[in-house]
Amino acid sequence: MSKTTPTRAATKRGAKAIAAAPAAASVASASTALVIRAVRDEDLDAVIEMDALVTGIKKRDYWKSLYGRYADAVATGQHFLVATADNTVIGFVIGEVRDWEFGSPPCGWVFAIDVHPEARLLGAATQLLQAICQRFKRAGVSKVRTLLARENTLILSFFRSQGMMISPFIPLELDLGH
Ligand SMILES: CC(C)(COP(=O)(O)OP(=O)(O)OC[C@H]1O[C@@H](n2cnc3c(N)ncnc32)[C@H](O)[C@@H]1OP(=O)(O)O)[C@@H](O)C(=O)NCCC(=O)NCCS
Repeated sequence: MSKTTPTRAATKRGAKAIAAAPAAASVASASTALVIRAVRDEDLDAVIEMDALVTGIKKRDYWKSLYGRYADAVATGQHFLVATADNTVIGFVIGEVRDWEFGSPPCGWVFAIDVHPEARLLGAATQLLQAICQRFKRAGVSKVRTLLARENTLILSFFRSQGMMISPFIPLELDLGH
């Protein structure tokens, strides 16, 4: 099981408060501790709501299946972490170590990261990414990769701010019809 990592929500920007996530109008002030920890059963509704808010689609079955595979799966290199402020989930990150896929040595992949719109620009995603990267490093890998939609300049800005660069891979796809 991943260790719980308490941090200060506002270390990055001093006095700015983490505003409310949906059901938590009172969440966090400058002094509120952000906790980064492995997802728990009771976090799932908040994760589903947050994803629906960002993507516009509620995918309960998808998230339940993902939870089944990634929660508490540290031994197999899979991580599903949440950021909480005052026990309210305000963000999450999901990723895993993949061995020799695409012909490359084992590396960490981040395939989802989200922060509640009202809790953004306070460093939560930075801390989530750092937390999952620490776990990747502990698993012995020295590289982290991700894929993002070309038009998603927000997520691109975030990953660039973390030092991520264009990788040597080219994504390809083919329409298989029906
Ligand atoms: C991208 C996202 C995760 C960033 O979360 P966050 O907690 O606000 O990020 P941080 O506060 O850690 O920001 C770190 C850096 O990212 C960059 N960044 C974040 N939001 C930005 C924005 N709106 N515009 C430009 N740069 C931005 C900045 O460089 C920022 O550092 P700075 O504030 O010192 O300039 C969040 O905006 C989000 O969830 N967006 C939707 C994500 C999404 O589309 N997910 C689906 C695909 S996985």
